[in-house]
Amino acid sequence: MRIQTLYYHNHILYVLDQLKLPHQKKYIVCRNWQQVVQVIKKMNIRGAPAIGVAAAFGIALGAWRQNTKNKQRFLSQIDTVAGKLTATRPTAVNLSWAIGQLLDYLEKIKAQDINSIKTWLEKKAQQILNEDVLINKKMAVHGEKLIPRNARILTHCNAGALATAGYGTALGVIREAHKRGKKISVLVDETRPYLQGARLTAWELKEENIPFHLISDNMAGHFISRREVDCVITGADRVAANGDTANKIGTYTLAVLAKENNIPFYIAAPLSTIDLKIKSGAEIPIEERSADELTGIAGKRIAPEGIKVKNPAFDVTPAKYITAIITEKGIIRKPYQKNLPICAEKAAK
Ligand code: MRU
Repeated sequence: MRIQTLYYHNHILYVLDQLKLPHQKKYIVCRNWQQVVQVIKKMNIRGAPAIGVAAAFGIALGAWRQNTKNKQRFLSQIDTVAGKLTATRPTAVNLSWAIGQLLDYLEKIKAQDINSIKTWLEKKAQQILNEDVLINKKMAVHGEKLIPRNARILTHCNAGALATAGYGTALGVIREAHKRGKKISVLVDETRPYLQGARLTAWELKEENIPFHLISDNMAGHFISRREVDCVITGADRVAANGDTANKIGTYTLAVLAKENNIPFYIAAPLSTIDLKIKSGAEIPIEERSADELTGIAGKRIAPEGIKVKNPAFDVTPAKYITAIITEKGIIRKPYQKNLPICAEKAAK
């Protein structure tokens, strides 16, 4: 089954509403860039590569919907749109990466007439979507080699088709191992407080008949210590030049547990998630989300009124805990400081 996280048709972006999953499969219709800003902010669409692709279409729509014949005004409005889209979520670098791709392209074609620019920006956004699926499939083929037969794999959050334009990063590797008959099984962390594991990863795995059990996050140590997990694999929202990696809150805990119990901890992420401008994880901006996500579950208040809450959406796993980083160009190992730039350079050629 092909899960279509988002698609573009006749100048409209359709976004699968992840807030309604797993109970309803409904698409939100985005006719303008303001609606794209809203679906990213409200997390109807989420996951690092997916929000990057959505933002690329946000730029395309920001161009398409303009009526002006004044080139200067047209270009300056696209700049404003880029700023608004970049500000939606701070941690995943794929968002600014994808917007940067559109703006660099615009720079090259800006001498053309307004109508041609509009068409070319739509084409560029579609190209980013198509390439994301291909990149995930390449990553899956590399990553699958790290997964032994009968492996029991633990994953966190949702790094699947829903977090990308299709196939997924960490879940792409899992999909591929399953497809090749490796008889794997998965432990799915529910991923409090936003429950991407329980709502989304469980849905994806069920749709594809990949064997799994849902667990709460605080059970991970129990299963790892009893040798019921052979490896941990997650996605990433930003990888710094030294290999430190930001991912969904709770990932760091899993990496420490994996190290303590001598099992490998893998990150699967496209090169667009690697931010060589940032030296270490300390520089990665961590999104702080609303207190409601913790004080209630499914709209029902569970905590006392008037309390203080901390709700960082991501944490940083130091590079020393990461066994390998799986990318579309192959598997990167330590020292990341040296090997990440080599891989990024190779990819740029
Ligand atoms: O807050 P979210 O749901 O956007 O966070 C998503 C994650 O942390 C994923 O693990 C990450 O984006 C990698 S997805 C391919």
